[in-house]
Amino acid sequence: MSPALDRRRSLTTFLPSEAVWSIGNRIGGFLKNMNDAWVSGIAYERFMGRWSNLVAQKFLSWLDVAPNRIWLDVGCGTGSLTGLILESYQPKEIISIDSSSDFISHAQRSITNSFAHFKVGLAQSLELDSNSIDAVVSGLVLNFVPQPKDAILEMLRVTKPGGKIGIFLWDYADGMQMLRYFWDAAVELDNNAREHDEGIRFPICRKGQLESLIREVGLGQVEATAIEIKTVFQNFDDYWQPFLGKVGAAPRFLMSMDQKYRQKLEDKLRSSLPIGNDGSISLYARAWVVKGTA
Ligand SMILES: C[S@@+](CC[C@H](N)C(=O)[O-])C[C@H]1O[C@@H](n2cnc3c(N)ncnc32)[C@H](O)[C@@H]1O
Repeated sequence: MSPALDRRRSLTTFLPSEAVWSIGNRIGGFLKNMNDAWVSGIAYERFMGRWSNLVAQKFLSWLDVAPNRIWLDVGCGTGSLTGLILESYQPKEIISIDSSSDFISHAQRSITNSFAHFKVGLAQSLELDSNSIDAVVSGLVLNFVPQPKDAILEMLRVTKPGGKIGIFLWDYADGMQMLRYFWDAAVELDNNAREHDEGIRFPICRKGQLESLIREVGLGQVEATAIEIKTVFQNFDDYWQPFLGKVGAAPRFLMSMDQKYRQKLEDKLRSSLPIGNDGSISLYARAWVVKGTA
């Protein structure tokens, strides 16, 4: 058991996911984000995990944390970042928290390493001691947190003076092409889809916004950049099928629409996506990345 966790055991660790959602609601505004419900690790891996993992590799190399450090992965999901840290950065220990008990169970099943401690918890109220962590990371999470500033303040609180904090988010409005094609086509068919479009819903994911917030909160030595990865789909089905998996905002939106709309959207994407002669679809995805010190 981690010393940080040992001293203040997380209450949420022992609660079912419904109870954790209920805590979130009381903290404020959480209900809205249930629309993005994170409930199936396997579906998430097919839809997003395979791509977030590629960003995470580049992000960790850029963050450059020395071995033998205590890490915290905030919103660890199915454990992509945590797994990479264990593989390549020789952590002393890593605490990985997520609000979804389903994702925590998935991560616990796939990563059985005694240096890793997975817990259900909320980014905006970390149940950890102040000044107890050397490196905090968070990938593709802050836009789903009702008060992202509170979450960054929490990261700052738990980080030791001089420790590192690194965060990345998709550029939903422009550079995350897999989703951009989807939402552009969805809105063209039905303007009401705009209210679900992550490029519109998440201002924190627009250029410069995350960096501004990090500076406002008071991190030192702030650096920001963009990381781009290739997202190559073998064929149209490899692109389309994961949208039918109900995990994440776009799949949830799609599955809330009737079959006629879904068919029209599929047809539209078949004609708008750049499908190569061999059937493959080569896109790219951009993430905004920031780091700073406590
Ligand atoms: C897009 S996924 C990213 C998962 C993982 N970090 C990755 O890079 O693959 C967003 C994650 O944030 C989690 N999440 C959403 N709101 C949260 C909150 N308030 N506190 C902690 N985790 C949260 C979700 O359960 C989900 O696992």
